[in-house]
Amino acid sequence: MKYNYCGKSGLQLPQVSLGMWHNFGSVDSFENAREMLLTAFENGITHFDLANNYGPEPGSAERTLGRVLREDLMAHRDELVISSKAGYEMWNGPYGNGGSRKYLMASINQSLKRTGLEYFDIFYSHRYDPNTPIEETMQALVDIVKSGKALYVGISNYPADKQQACYDYLRAHDVPCLISQYKANMLFRDTLLAQKPIAEQNGSGFITFCPLAQGLLTDRYFNGIPTGSRATRGIFLKESQITENYLKQVHALNEIAAGRGQSLAQMALAWLLHLGVTSVLIGASSTQQLLNNIGAIDNTDFSPEELSNIDQILQN
Ligand SMILES: NC(=O)c1ccc[n+]([C@@H]2O[C@H](COP(=O)([O-])OP(=O)(O)OC[C@H]3O[C@@H](n4cnc5c(N)ncnc54)[C@H](OP(=O)(O)O)[C@@H]3O)[C@@H](O)[C@H]2O)c1
Repeated sequence: MKYNYCGKSGLQLPQVSLGMWHNFGSVDSFENAREMLLTAFENGITHFDLANNYGPEPGSAERTLGRVLREDLMAHRDELVISSKAGYEMWNGPYGNGGSRKYLMASINQSLKRTGLEYFDIFYSHRYDPNTPIEETMQALVDIVKSGKALYVGISNYPADKQQACYDYLRAHDVPCLISQYKANMLFRDTLLAQKPIAEQNGSGFITFCPLAQGLLTDRYFNGIPTGSRATRGIFLKESQITENYLKQVHALNEIAAGRGQSLAQMALAWLLHLGVTSVLIGASSTQQLLNNIGAIDNTDFSPEELSNIDQILQN
């Protein structure tokens, strides 16, 4: 594994981090989840990303990690960077959603209990809440660090015009924003242009989620739609997205990847790393996928010709 410093901090993150949004819930195989977490760690993935609501059921991904820590990994706690978040709906009523101090404080306590951790390495405000003053949300993050419940804080999904206020508030209260988490991949580049430069100017790291577009930037759908794949779940990725035009585009990308001696997934991750993101936050449903994705770090250089060919395909 290779590691990058996270923004202007002294914390290094692996170039490939593992997210637990899908495939780590109570509806999924615990043995498969455990194998993926242990394989990731054995291969240098020191960073696992959670949120309060990951599952399903919400909260169960945190419980899965808690069990693996208890049974296998707790002796390695100091070699791990574990993050969680609050911001989207987690429980009924006015205090289980948004950016209020009430919600963030209650949620981190619940997340610590579910994982069995004494502290998170990183705690995020998961989204901008237009109904809560940014100062209230940021002060909650400051107090979370000052009370020892997290070592660092981050923001996720904040619109570009709200980022600066977060960075300014946190810096003024001696808890600089370690990291900014945004969706970015070859098929969705907006945040690389809008939010990444602002994060960089403020010394905040930039970690990208859905770097494989939930599987669209892999060979997963080359021969139809496999049973159990994310598209068949139909919630965040839909079968209707697997169109002729999409397949034409990814087959063309796959040819460039083959020319580089990479899988399409590896090239998609390498492309983000070459643009200077701190880490790519992948998902996986098997250790095979995970190991394939880790291989991306072996070649993150692109020739000008490869880049222009990729751009041309993406423009179509
Ligand atoms: N901050 C936020 O709001 C937010 C939002 C979303 C996600 N996230 C974070 O980002 C993490 C990653 O998101 P994501 O799971 O959507 O990421 P992703 O890496 O874009 O997609 C992962 C999916 O792609 C498929 N896949 C992965 N590697 C493959 C390979 N080598 N070959 C074929 N298929 C492959 C698998 O789909 P199948 O399951 O079909 O096998 C896997 O579940 C989450 O776990 C979470 O930590 C954060």
